[in-house]
Amino acid sequence: MKKIGFLATALAVGMMISSGGALAAGDVAKGKKVFKKCKICHAVKKGKNKIGPSLFGVVGRKAATAKGFRFSKAMKKSKLTWDEATLDKYLKKPRKAVKGTRMVFPGLRSKKDRANVIAYLKTLK
Ligand code: HEC
Repeated sequence: MKKIGFLATALAVGMMISSGGALAAGDVAKGKKVFKKCKICHAVKKGKNKIGPSLFGVVGRKAATAKGFRFSKAMKKSKLTWDEATLDKYLKKPRKAVKGTRMVFPGLRSKKDRANVIAYLKTLK
């Protein structure tokens, strides 16, 4: 009897984790809308830098390696690689994640917004 209870719990937890995972995956179309907040400073075209560096191919790239852009010392020293986890942290509070970053952006408070914009960034390649 106890065993069945355990199995049922395990199953329920498993279902919660998998549905949570589905929620965490971002929505590209929504992410594109969120990206409007970034557009003033970031282009998505390869090699096109504005106030901020081009975000073409940013996912998987090492921080501060966009060609032709002068990054802050802080960003150069950060040694980050932009994956989902580091982007999530940086976009939540840029100046907390990379102290001294020149990105003057307060951050995206909504986890969903961040997941969506990261999903969009992934398509830029
Ligand atoms: C006010 C201008 C501005 C806005 C708005 C802005 N950024 Fe930035 N961003 C910058 C600057 C400047 C840098 C370079 C930071 C440095 O060198 O410390 C940067 C750097 C970055 C980097 C690191 C790039 C690299 O190659 O290492 C990412 C990723 C990024 N921004 C994403 C975003 C996203 C996503 C948004 C919108 C949610 C956004 N930024 C909004 C100005 C901005």
